[in-house]
Amino acid sequence: MAFEEVRRDWTRLGEHDPLWAVYVTPGTRGGRWDVEEFFATGRTEVARSLEHLASLGLGTRRTKALDFGAGVGRLSAALAEHFDHVVGVDVSPTMLDEARRLDRSEGKVEFVLNDAVDLSFVPDAEVDLVYSSLVLQHLPRELAYGYLREFLRVVRPDGAAVIQVVSRPNVSIKGLIARLAPFRLIAWGQTRLLRYPAPMRMTLMPPKAVRRALEGTGAVVVDAVRDDSYGSHWECVRYYLSRG
Ligand SMILES: C[S@@+](CC[C@H](N)C(=O)[O-])C[C@H]1O[C@@H](n2cnc3c(N)ncnc32)[C@H](O)[C@@H]1O
Repeated sequence: MAFEEVRRDWTRLGEHDPLWAVYVTPGTRGGRWDVEEFFATGRTEVARSLEHLASLGLGTRRTKALDFGAGVGRLSAALAEHFDHVVGVDVSPTMLDEARRLDRSEGKVEFVLNDAVDLSFVPDAEVDLVYSSLVLQHLPRELAYGYLREFLRVVRPDGAAVIQVVSRPNVSIKGLIARLAPFRLIAWGQTRLLRYPAPMRMTLMPPKAVRRALEGTGAVVVDAVRDDSYGSHWECVRYYLSRG
């Protein structure tokens, strides 16, 4: 049920305003993202993350990466500059249509529709890197933690996962609403007042809960770095995980 709701909402968002829905930034709603600038944000983010990963002594093998929640391929395209092969996984067929239309990777990126609450289509220890930004925060809690555990299953023993989550709201009106209001009310406000094509949920994943979810997966949190690149309303953390 929750999965179907997520699929329905992101299919609508992908149909109406995919670039804005992927990266909500003032002045970009209604198809007004400059496509070059939009993809440049992905290149900057991925280059920084991979550099940090290397400084931790991780992520040296660059054969296959999995971009979870690929959207229109902003980060998949950037990963393709560093990896031989990238699998961009998304639940939304409309996002994937746009991703394929914008893809300039000459076959390095393969876009795959996710149809499940797990990553069962990916064998154990298959990829060198799982990468995900701006995704888990938009999922219901149980789905978000379930995928997080799956990331560790599909990563190779010498591989890594770089996962961005929102750990808590900062002190602001928006943050307060996210903390206190039920999702149904937020969804109503987003769709009726702000006229979003579909609601965007904000699920907070505090550090303690992340570490608890990772128990038993063999994950080691090698680093957890505060990252404010996606706006001041939320405290975002990028986790650098290995399989120990
Ligand atoms: C805000 S966008 C971010 C896209 C991309 N990660 C980026 O930063 O450019 C979130 C994406 O996650 C996707 N998504 C949501 N639930 C998903 C799921 N269960 N499996 C795969 N993708 C999912 C949405 O369809 C959407 O494209």
